[in-house]
Amino acid sequence: MHILITGGAGFIGSHVVRHFLNSYPSYTITNLDKLTYAGNLANLREVERLPNYRFIKGDITDGDFLMRLFEEQRFDGVIHLAAESHVDRSITNPTAFVVTNVLGTVNLLNAAKASWGANLEGKRFYHISTDEVYGSLGSEGMFTEETPYDPHSPYSASKASSDHFVRAWHDTFGLPVVISNCSNNYGSFQFPEKLIPLFINNIIQKKPLPVYGKGENIRDWLWVVDHAQAIDVIYHQGKTGETYNIGGHNEWSNIALIQLLCRIMDTKLGRAAGESEKLVTYVTDRAGHDLRYAIDSSKLQRELGWVPSITFEKGLELTVEWYLTESEWLSNVTSGSYQCYYEEMYRGR
Ligand code: NAD
Ligand code: TYD
Repeated sequence: MHILITGGAGFIGSHVVRHFLNSYPSYTITNLDKLTYAGNLANLREVERLPNYRFIKGDITDGDFLMRLFEEQRFDGVIHLAAESHVDRSITNPTAFVVTNVLGTVNLLNAAKASWGANLEGKRFYHISTDEVYGSLGSEGMFTEETPYDPHSPYSASKASSDHFVRAWHDTFGLPVVISNCSNNYGSFQFPEKLIPLFINNIIQKKPLPVYGKGENIRDWLWVVDHAQAIDVIYHQGKTGETYNIGGHNEWSNIALIQLLCRIMDTKLGRAAGESEKLVTYVTDRAGHDLRYAIDSSKLQRELGWVPSITFEKGLELTVEWYLTESEWLSNVTSGSYQCYYEEMYRGR
């Protein structure tokens, strides 16, 4: 079995690469990643010397390159995670999201179709998507696989578009695809542009914690290790042409999550109770900020038997411990261009 994982040097991708190499030593895993600001080979130190792992630096927006790669390598499966993934960046530079997330996905579909031809036995194209394609909920209800798509941000619109293209290659060309839509992930190796690692870093530095709006928006959080396990189950047992929602029934308002994070950080850093929470600063809201995400993952639980392995409180504690231990990783990714990003994104907010 030879699987191509795209975006394997990013946050979730690096967990998926590690999970597949550890769980399936007989598989060959090729990681294709452009190494944008979000891609970091240091995320894969633990596995980089394994004989069945290879890394290729390459860009999914280059269709000719992908055609050659698929011709040479003869992959049995693709797990596609490469993407521009941060909503705030999609507001400042939407076009990059269209190019990578939509065109890049179509290029991969074309390359898989050309390489596999009519020989589809054992082949699988697995597209990793997000719950954000379903839009925003009010105080009631959850996203199911039947919820109509209603994306609001350029990020979620680009992911929704890519999902439609993946389904079109299944319906029109018979490509054996499967799609999953997961809720917000957290855990080790997440780039500190997203809420949890950004706030952990700011608490360590005693910098203000920029809470958008009133902090009342709700997200449904899943430990990244549990997402990687769900991807394994869906890759091997999911039905072709189907969609699976992934999530842990774990909704938190941003402010409640931040208060919990502050309490954990005070304990771990030996600071007085309440010290980190004093850093909370309410700032101008994100444009088009989705109010609430909540995912119903009962289809995945019922049909494929997947369940999350730990509570949010435990997962968050493990995550904080990881960032405190891996201070070198954190200082490497927050030096240089990160400072410019932070200054531009949060200046005058
Ligand atoms: P990330 O930003 O940490 O990683 C993305 C990776 O893709 C990086 O390694 C980057 O270098 C690579 N990449 C970007 N453009 C590329 C290109 N043109 N060619 C090749 N590689 C390229 O993202 P993540 O948070 O790990 O998300 C991975 C996937 O999971 C994305 O498709 C995202 O939409 C989806 N997802 C993320 C979450 C979440 O909470 N982070 C939740 C659900 C779904
Ligand atoms: P984020 O981690 O960017 O994920 P997403 O927007 O894809 O859900 O943000 C999670 C929530 O935290 C979201 O409601 C926006 C909010 N947020 C802040 O309040 N401040 C911040 O600095 C960031 C990055 C996010």
